[in-house]
Amino acid sequence: MNVADSEVVASILSPFYSITDSLKEAELILLNTCSVRDNAEQRIRKRLRELAALKKKNKSLLIGLLGCMAERIKEQLLEEEKSLDFIVGPDAYRSLPELIEKASLQIVSFNVALSEEETYDDIEPVRYASNGVSAFIAIMRGCNNFCSYCVVPFTRGRERSRDPKTIIAEAQSLFEKGFREVTLLGQNVNSYCWNETEKKIDFADLTEQIAQISPLLRIRYATSHPKDISDKLLFIMSKYPNICHYIHLPVQSGSNKMLKKMNRIYTREYYLERIKKIKEILPNCAISTDIIAGFCGETEQDHQDTLSMMKEVGYEYAFMFKYSVRGGTAAAEKYEDDIPEELKIKRLEEVIALQQHLSLQSNKRDIGKTVTVLIEGISKRSDQHLFGRNPQNKVCVFPKKEYKIGDYAEVKIIKCTAGTLLGETI
Ligand code: 5AD
Ligand code: SF4
Repeated sequence: MNVADSEVVASILSPFYSITDSLKEAELILLNTCSVRDNAEQRIRKRLRELAALKKKNKSLLIGLLGCMAERIKEQLLEEEKSLDFIVGPDAYRSLPELIEKASLQIVSFNVALSEEETYDDIEPVRYASNGVSAFIAIMRGCNNFCSYCVVPFTRGRERSRDPKTIIAEAQSLFEKGFREVTLLGQNVNSYCWNETEKKIDFADLTEQIAQISPLLRIRYATSHPKDISDKLLFIMSKYPNICHYIHLPVQSGSNKMLKKMNRIYTREYYLERIKKIKEILPNCAISTDIIAGFCGETEQDHQDTLSMMKEVGYEYAFMFKYSVRGGTAAAEKYEDDIPEELKIKRLEEVIALQQHLSLQSNKRDIGKTVTVLIEGISKRSDQHLFGRNPQNKVCVFPKKEYKIGDYAEVKIIKCTAGTLLGETI
């Protein structure tokens, strides 16, 4: 989501600035921040200290902070980080030219107002860091779920969906420019909803309309909340081969007690029923997840429930975190952060080790299969090899031959690691 936001910001500022890779040349540096976990905030603090040194050398350099962290701790940041000239929250990017103007007159200012309507739907993002093959499209903003550990509903505001006409036009225009994959983004894409006068468009309808742009345009989406993933969407996915059979379905914990405390709304049994349905309708669908280790009051049994859940689903991939308290959330207010740091780390390591094993098992099952890979670039390890992803979102590396970036290639898998499939084109 932050990449998509940065692309909107680049578009808003394009009449005034061009983008440079060189920090030394920059007249304006913007840091787009995330507050979801504490370590992301710590990294930004470190970066700001490094940039303060740059500012001493170049007095006219302006530094601005964007995104969630701006929302969460604006006063504290302006007080503590003297190198900052302005701060702007995720719903206020349109005011950037004004804030920059003030900053150039040495007036420190901020705009962190959250909006119930802003979706930036009329702004065509500038894909400045893109590989020219795959792009993100933000289809909604904000979140109404209030998971007890999560700061997002406070930093990004209420959920709102973007006009489907603008989303489809953006996907169409990307396809015409040569892009071959779009990832539809939102905190909870399955609750996408747009009311036209006579009919309602939900996420499944939207996905179907984008799938019809061209069979050569791949569609991915993230993130799905387990409570909202519908059979209708699964059937649409099975109908269009260009909708990738890959679902990111954060589970967070395998323990019902923890899920309740996390305010996740579903139970372990409900989640497993959804997995069963996914595998029934989309037998080759890859599933990834998010897991939090060491949430408030997590017992050894709760932790074991998470491990057994991971085995039962057999996730292809997982994003794994240890719990960090976020000020202002329900968990920060109601529950004690009582799992000692060493135990959080130990449990997280167990979760990571199990996932490594599951990812390797899953990749081994692909050996001998032929998969369709959308080529994204040249392999980091060898310029004679290309890499891309198969529909299940697995990275595949194979010898270059006559292929080029943006092509589709049929690749027979020969070897694998836990993170990569290695093959030959056929
Ligand atoms: N501590 C640890 N992980 C968190 N996440 C969100 N909030 C926290 C927190 N306070 C994780 C969840 C979520 C992902 C984006 O970040 O797993 O799905
Ligand atoms: Fe945070 Fe829950 Fe919303 Fe995801 S669904 S952004 S975890 S509140």
